[in-house]
Amino acid sequence: MKLQESVPLLVASLLTLAGCGASQPSSIEADIANEVKEVTIGGEDWEDPTPDTKESIEAGAEHFRHHCQVCHGLDGHATGVPFAGTMSPPVPDLGSSEIQDYTDGQLKWIIENGIRFTGMPGWQGVIDDEHMWLMVRYIRNLPSVGSLGPPAVYVESDHNSGAEGDHHDHSSATEEDGGHHEH
Ligand code: HEC
Repeated sequence: MKLQESVPLLVASLLTLAGCGASQPSSIEADIANEVKEVTIGGEDWEDPTPDTKESIEAGAEHFRHHCQVCHGLDGHATGVPFAGTMSPPVPDLGSSEIQDYTDGQLKWIIENGIRFTGMPGWQGVIDDEHMWLMVRYIRNLPSVGSLGPPAVYVESDHNSGAEGDHHDHSSATEEDGGHHEH
């Protein structure tokens, strides 16, 4: 038997081994990735050492905005992230029950180690332990979908008359192009 021919068999036996009964045929790969993920994610019993307070949630939100919004949106629901749905696997809604079903410790583990073979990076050595725990507090208390709007990086700043980001491009125009006029 050639290798190519044995691959579907391997996939089938992996699924059987994993006891994955309710799989959709179209998402076999995703199912396997999920099974692998479930056995690799650690931290189940780790406890969040930060106080469960409004201040913790706010501090967590701030760290989240700093590090995570480019993919997860300001609100954690991937609001306004243009590529969220086209990444493979896609950026999940952190408010969904699948994610909320993780224990606090597992969420911390995920932030620390990332998820292999996906776009979710690990942050060990980049973000302090305490800050990761604060972000777990935030993930547990996400604002409603869309309530914070899209991340500023994805908003065109042209003609934005808001208080911030209200600086016009004139100063950066060179003598050669003499500035470009949009209308
Ligand atoms: C470069 C894009 C990117 C950045 C930045 C990013 N993530 Fe993710 N994140 C992803 C993707 C893609 C997934 C989906 C992984 C998967 O399906 O297993 C994910 C999944 C997750 C999950 C759920 C894991 C699961 O089982 O799906 C959590 C929790 C999470 N991210 C938290 C964070 C936090 C907190 C930060 C900031 C410290 C962050 N992410 C930064 C792309 C990103």
